Amino acid sequence: MAIIDAKAGGHRYPIVIGTDCGDRLRTLVRRHLEGGRLFVLYDAQFFALHGRNMQRILGAAASRDRELVIPVGETAKSASTLAGVYDFLLDARISRDDLILACGGGVTTDLAGYAAATALRGVRWAVVPTTLLGMVDAAIGGKTGINHPKGKNLIGVFCQPEFVHCDLQYLRTLDRRHMVAGLGEVIKYAGLCGNRSRPHGMLDTLERMSISGDFYDLKKLSCLVQASVTYKVMIVERDERDLGVRIRLNYGHTFAHAVEQSLGYGHLLHGEAVILGVIAALNLGKSYGFISRGLARYQAIAESFVRFLPKRTLRPEAIRAAMAIDKKRSNGQTRFVLIERLGRPILSDNVDRRLIDSALADMVVCYSESGGRDASNPRR
Ligand SMILES: NC(=O)c1ccc[n+]([C@@H]2O[C@H](COP(=O)([O-])OP(=O)(O)OC[C@H]3O[C@@H](n4cnc5c(N)ncnc54)[C@H](O)[C@@H]3O)[C@@H](O)[C@H]2O)c1
Ligand SMILES: [Zn+2]
Repeated sequence: MAIIDAKAGGHRYPIVIGTDCGDRLRTLVRRHLEGGRLFVLYDAQFFALHGRNMQRILGAAASRDRELVIPVGETAKSASTLAGVYDFLLDARISRDDLILACGGGVTTDLAGYAAATALRGVRWAVVPTTLLGMVDAAIGGKTGINHPKGKNLIGVFCQPEFVHCDLQYLRTLDRRHMVAGLGEVIKYAGLCGNRSRPHGMLDTLERMSISGDFYDLKKLSCLVQASVTYKVMIVERDERDLGVRIRLNYGHTFAHAVEQSLGYGHLLHGEAVILGVIAALNLGKSYGFISRGLARYQAIAESFVRFLPKRTLRPEAIRAAMAIDKKRSNGQTRFVLIERLGRPILSDNVDRRLIDSALADMVVCYSESGGRDASNPRR
C-alpha cells in the first residue's frame, strides 16, 4: 500500500493506493467522522457490484437512510441529478460536522464533490474512486462540477477532499473499454514524467501491458496509478486553480477534444480519444524537431494501444472544424502542450496550421490501419 501526501488550497490530505485495503478505509472514515454522520453517494453500477462489500467495510458508520445511488452515465452530471442529491442531503438534515463519501467513477465523484462543496456552503467530503480514470485523474486535484446544456464541466468549484482511497481490487469488474480509457490518461502521464517514475518506469509497465493485452494485472496497475497520482499531485500543489502549469495535464487533449467532438460525444470514450490525441501531439512535436530514442519508444507504445480502441471513422475535416471552434472560444489561441524530451513538456502557441493538419493526418492513418483489431466490447 502506498500513501501519497497531497497539498492544495492550504489543505493537506492522504491519497491511499492499495489492493483489498478496506480496513484502511474504515479507519480513515472513523478518524474523519469526528462525531458527525456519514453520507455515502454511490455510482449505481458500482453499488450493484460492490455495495454490500462497502457497507460491510463501513460498518456502523453507514446507514441505509444515508446512502444514495446515482444513475450511471455522463447525463447524471446534471443540475437535475444534483437537485436530487441536495434533496436527499437536506431531508436527512445534513450538518457541517458530517462527511460525504463519494464512491464511483468521475461522474459520481465530480457530482458528489460539487454537492459537498455547495450544500450548507461546504460539507467535508472524501473519495473512493472506482474506475481507473477516476483514480488517476478525476478524484485527484479537487475539481468538482456538473455539465450544462451548453457544454461539459461548465459549472463547478475547486474543493479538496479529506482523503482519497484507491482500492485497485474494484478495477477487476471494470469493463475493458473503460480500462483502456483510463490507460489513455496514464499514457499521457508517462510522457509528462518520463520513465523515471518509481517503483517502476511507466513506459516499461505500459509496454508489458500492451504486449500481454492484460490490463487487469493489479501489480502493474498499482505502479501506474502511483506514478500518475504522484505526478498530478505535484502539478496541483503548484497550481491548484489551473492558471499555470496545470495546463500540462492537457497534453494530447487539444486533439482529443476535437476528435471527440468530430465524432459526436459518446462514440469514443474521453480516455480513448486521449490516446489518439497523444499520438497527434507526438507527430506535431516531430515537426518541431522533438525527436529522440525515448520519444520514438513512447510513440510506439502509445500507438500499440490503438488496436485496443473500437473502430470509428475519423474525418480530418471535422476534427479541424472542431479545433477551429475551440480556437475561437479561447480568444483565437490554440495552445499545444508538446513534449520536447521524455519528461520535459513545453507550451506552444501559434502553431502553423499545416503542421497541425499533417500531425492529424498521420494519426488518422495510424488509427485507420490498426484501430479496432483487438478491441472488444464496442458499445456502438
Ligand atoms: N474532476 C476532474 O478533475 C476530472 C478529471 C477527469 C475526468 N473527470 C470527469 O470524469 C468523468 C468520467 O469518469 P469515468 O471515466 O470514471 O466515468 P464514469 O463515472 O461514467 O464510470 C464509467 C463506467 O464505469 C462504471 N463503474 C464504476 N466503477 C466500476 C467498477 N468498479 N466496476 C464496474 N463498473 C464500474 C460506471 O457505472 C460507468 O458505467 C467525466 O464526467 C469527466 O468530466 C473529472
Ligand atoms: Zn482527460
